[in-house]
Amino acid sequence: MKAAYIEKFGGPEVLQYGDLPDPVAGPGEVVVDVHAATVNAADWKFRAGEYARHSNVKFPQIPGRDFSGVVSAVGDGADLKVGDAVFGVLGAGKEGTYCEKIAIPAALVAKKPDGLSHINAAALALTGLTAINSVEDTLKLQRGETILIQGGAGGVAGFAIQFAKYLGARVITTCSAANVDYVRGLGADQVIDYNAQNFTRVVSGCDAVFDTVGGDVAKQSFAVLKPGGRAAFIASGAEAPKPDRSDVTALRPPVPRSRKAMERIAEVFMAGGVKPPEVKLYKLAQAADAHRLSQSRHFRGKLVFQVR
Ligand SMILES: NC(=O)c1ccc[n+]([C@@H]2O[C@H](COP(=O)([O-])OP(=O)(O)OC[C@H]3O[C@@H](n4cnc5c(N)ncnc54)[C@H](OP(=O)(O)O)[C@@H]3O)[C@@H](O)[C@H]2O)c1
Repeated sequence: MKAAYIEKFGGPEVLQYGDLPDPVAGPGEVVVDVHAATVNAADWKFRAGEYARHSNVKFPQIPGRDFSGVVSAVGDGADLKVGDAVFGVLGAGKEGTYCEKIAIPAALVAKKPDGLSHINAAALALTGLTAINSVEDTLKLQRGETILIQGGAGGVAGFAIQFAKYLGARVITTCSAANVDYVRGLGADQVIDYNAQNFTRVVSGCDAVFDTVGGDVAKQSFAVLKPGGRAAFIASGAEAPKPDRSDVTALRPPVPRSRKAMERIAEVFMAGGVKPPEVKLYKLAQAADAHRLSQSRHFRGKLVFQVR
């Protein structure tokens, strides 16, 4: 099969395009012919060798965590059939979707809704999983509450804005001037251009914060919470930053993979609660270009590989 892969950790230029062996479905697994896979920030952190757990990996390694495609082989005991259109996210800590075929436990994938293209299903996979885990399961956002979502034009935050509105919350978000109309289109009630205004001066009394930016933005986010407020962080590493006040809670959402979680994404999509993000398409052979743009941290929506 064709794949984008690395033979060593390094900059975007270490990404190669070529042939690697096809995977085989083990017990409980299916082989999926990948139609679309997406670029997540985790992919270039992995490519650069930033994850300690990967220090002993054997090369070649294929980056990528989410996908949409069609089942082409079924291992013993897997409860899907050849021809099923499915989407999903690889098991935690696993990489390998920038390619034409993957093997994955059937228990981790869900049927793709008919009205959702493979490209859009892939675009909603890890973003949706992360946003739902963060906003619903971790922050436990309630109808009528106000949430500040940092980095509104990004993949996860774009899903989170729509999902928070779907849950009945009021949404404030931050982005650069070029993306203001985009995040308003996703449903944000109040948009702060972070280059023009410091969010800590114009926002206060929030019930919740969902930070997808990290760094100082994450650390300063505690200031906008009301007493008893909750903040969830996905761009500050494995631990949430420590609050500089004692009356708020800092949370690092776990992002467990499961079929049920993917079905929740499909359910919210079918209910009209989220629409797919703006998508920029790449071929697998252009993986280095896609990584350069993702790594710039300034684009909007999702970068997606159209594999078939
Ligand atoms: N399971 C997990 O824990 C998990 C899963 C997915 C992602 N993540 C992490 O979450 C983070 C976001 O990932 P993603 O894929 O959603 O994002 P992304 O798409 O890579 O985010 C890029 C976006 O960040 C915005 N941005 C950059 N600096 C900003 C600032 N100072 N204030 C507000 N917005 C800013 C950019 O908008 P402008 O161009 O308007 O600046 C751009 O749209 C990454 O660190 C990623 O590793 C974690």
